[in-house]
This record gives sequence, structure tokens and C-alpha cells, in this order.
Amino acid sequence: MAIERVDAYLAEHGKRFEGQLKDLIRIPSVSAQPDHDADTRRAAEFVLNDLKEMGVEAELIEFPEGHPIVFGQKLDAPGKPTLLVYGHYDVQPPEPLEPWLTPPFEPTEKDGNLYARGATDDKGQMFTHLKAAEGWLKGVGALPINVKFVIEGEEEVGGANLESLMAEQPDRLACDFAVISDTSQFAPGMPAITYGLKGLAYFELVVEGANRDLHSGTFGGAVQNPLNALATILASLKDAEGRIAIPGFYDDVRPLEDWERAEFARLPFSEEEFRADLTVPEVFGEAGYSTLERKWARPTCDINGIWGGYSGPGPKTVLPRLAGAKFSFRLVPDQTPGRIHELIDAHLKAVCPPGVTYTLKAMHGAPSVLVEAKGNPGVEAAMKAVEAGFGTKPVLIREGGSIPVVGLIKEHLGVDTLLLGWGQNDDNLHGPNEKFSLADFHRGIKASAHLMAELAGMK
Ligand code: BES
Ligand code: ZN
Repeated sequence: MAIERVDAYLAEHGKRFEGQLKDLIRIPSVSAQPDHDADTRRAAEFVLNDLKEMGVEAELIEFPEGHPIVFGQKLDAPGKPTLLVYGHYDVQPPEPLEPWLTPPFEPTEKDGNLYARGATDDKGQMFTHLKAAEGWLKGVGALPINVKFVIEGEEEVGGANLESLMAEQPDRLACDFAVISDTSQFAPGMPAITYGLKGLAYFELVVEGANRDLHSGTFGGAVQNPLNALATILASLKDAEGRIAIPGFYDDVRPLEDWERAEFARLPFSEEEFRADLTVPEVFGEAGYSTLERKWARPTCDINGIWGGYSGPGPKTVLPRLAGAKFSFRLVPDQTPGRIHELIDAHLKAVCPPGVTYTLKAMHGAPSVLVEAKGNPGVEAAMKAVEAGFGTKPVLIREGGSIPVVGLIKEHLGVDTLLLGWGQNDDNLHGPNEKFSLADFHRGIKASAHLMAELAGMK
């Protein structure tokens, strides 16, 4: 059987794949930092050349600004479905550097893991699909289905190039299935298929008072302090029970279904281990829901940053001119970033104390994702493929993170995405000492190769 020849090729070339992944990781493609623009382009070229070498027609799609998209396709399987593989070659900044035990762009193997920025997010995970395609093209001579690759370089900065490509050339990206590996397994040895992601509505609020910083003795009590006002506003977002206190906020929230609550409760999740690992005195969240339900399926509100006044050494009796905060909401179906923006606008009008003005700016937005998993042929094919790669059946989970492209794929291409994550929850993505299990790298490659076989058998 063809798939056996693919598996043999993957086993034979596994070590070389690791070397290639390390070479890709050594390129510091930090999309947020203009100093690394040339490196970011080098990472794009690395992916481009790898696709070309295995026989995929590939090119860089260039844009007036930002980073190019690597586009590749191999459409030699008439009558068979087309799979779109999405991934990103850019990475988060490695800073702060002090907590890194090994240099962020020098991939280092330890205890079966590869430590480096981008190891799991998303170079290691993305690369599994390229190597799976190579397994078919070099091991058998052809792919069993049609495959398109869209590997972008602006995921970590919320760039606009991918959306413009999807909006302007949806036919070029047309597909029957999409797959992304940029999520995690449930636990070591428990691979997962993610059928739900949260959406995101992110805001920056600046509160302004007098035209200059003031002496808090001379002026305090006579004019409003923007930091005090900001604290009042931020405190009004949530109640003591962990519920969001913005009127109308829960109107569009789709409740968890009974079967989901039952499935989540069945998963081997220890609240005590979770608590102890984080060394918090207790877990906290919306009353009436379990930790997994809060993490995966209930909306949240978090202040992400706050500034104003004086926070240097020693005291300074200042009444600051302005104060600011960044805060965001993780959303669940059927909430939308646009509707949340309207509700926040109305809420701020109602709660902003007198004596200050404010400006609210909407930043990132992403829709939530919920794929009908039961009876979905793509999910069923993915189940078999993950089992082939990992040697055990995957569990169905939701996740609290957001992947905006999944919403774009649905909107512009009309397709649900298969979220097949090969990472672990403790991979430290976006943090120091990011890692990816090399065993999971190889299992992911095998699962991807089998996904192509499973999808080929469907039509
Ligand atoms: N891979 C993550 C998303 C993710 C994290 C999914 C954890 C599931 C579990 C992705 O790279 C990411 O960080 N997304 C951002 C999106 C935002 C910047 C629009 C996020 O979730 O904060
Ligand atoms: Zn990321």
C-alpha cells in the first residue's frame, strides 16, 4: 500500500527532517521587529525552497508592506479533494532574554524536546505538513489529494496581507478542507482535535484629565485624577463572582451543551495539579463553571496592561495628566467583536466618572470558532489520521486561544478548519524556553501523511 511506503520514507528520513527544522528555527524571523525584516524574508525563502525541492509549485506572494506569503500547490489529483495547509513562519520576539536557559535561536535538544523560539509556534508544527507532503512526493511519487500551502509571515503581528489575499483571490485558495497545527494536545500521550476556539476583542483606553501633571497636594481633591477614574472604570468591568458586569455582555453567549459538559468532566484534568503548578492559592473564575469550562467555553475579560503616573523608585506625589489601559475579552459563539465594541462604548458612557475625557481604540479582533464535530467527515478523517500518527484516539477539546485565520477561512473560502495541534500546554509559546517534543514532531508528520490518505479515500 502507498501509505506504507510513505511511512517507511518518513522513518528513514526523520533525522534529516530534524536537522532541517533546526535550520529553519535558527532564522530569527521576528515579524514584529523591523531589524529582523531580512531574517523574516529568509524564513519565507527557506519554506519556499523546501516546497520547491519536494516538487511543489511554489512562489512568494509579495505585498507593498509587511511580509510575503509562501504559496504552494500541487493539484495533480483530479477528482480528489483539495486540502489547504495553513501555517506561519514568523515568531514572537524572544525578549526578555534572561529567563532563557539556552539561546532562543540556537535550537537545543534536551529530554526529547527541542528548545527554541518558534519550536512549537509555529515552525515545528507547520513543518510537519511539509514533511508529510514530501513523504508522499518522494516516497510514492505523488500526493493522494490536491494540496495548497499558505504559510504566512505576519501571524504574530496581526498583519493584513493574508486577509487581503483571501478577499481578493478566494478562488486561488479554494479548497474542500483546511488544516492548521497551531494548538496543543490535551496532555502528553493524549492527542486532541480542537473543535472550538475563543474569539477576541481587544481595546486600548486612555483617560485624560488636566493639561499637565499636577502636585497632588495643591490640586488633589479639586480635579479628577485620571488614574483614579481609570481604576473605577476597570473595576466596573467584572463583579466579585468573576462575571462580566457590562450590560448585555452575555446576551449572545451560546450555552455549553450538556454533552460538552459531560465530555469535559470526563477528561483527566486535576484542578489541584493545575493550581499547584501555577502556585496560586486557589483557582478563580466565573461562578458555576468548572476550570475547563471557564478556559474553553465561557467568555472572559482581562486587563493586559496599565500605565500612568509614577512607578519609579521612591514616592512622587503626582496627580498624573493621563492614564491608560489595555484590556481584552475572549469571546465565545455567538458573540462578535463588533457587538462587544458597541456594548463597551455604552458602558463607558455610563460609568466614566466626571472631570475626565477618554478615548477608546479597538485593536485586534477575531471571531470565535465552533465546528460541528459530530458527523463531520473531515473530523472523522482527522480522527483516524491522528490515531495512526500517535497510536491513540484523539479527544475532542475546545481551547481558550484565538486563531483569526480560522474565521477568515470560513468567511472567504466557506470551509471549516481541522485544528490538529501537536503541542503541549507547557510548551511556553510566546514565553522563554519555548519547546516542542521531537517525538510529537514525528507523530505529527505521520498523522498529516495519513490525513492526506484518509481524505483521498473520501471522494
Ligand atoms: N497558537 C496561538 C493560539 C492558541 C493558543 C490556540 C493556545 C490554542 C491555545 C496563536 O499563535 C496566538 O497566540 N494567537 C493570539 C491571537 C491574537 C494575537 C489575535 C492569541 O490567542 O492571543
Ligand atoms: Zn503565536
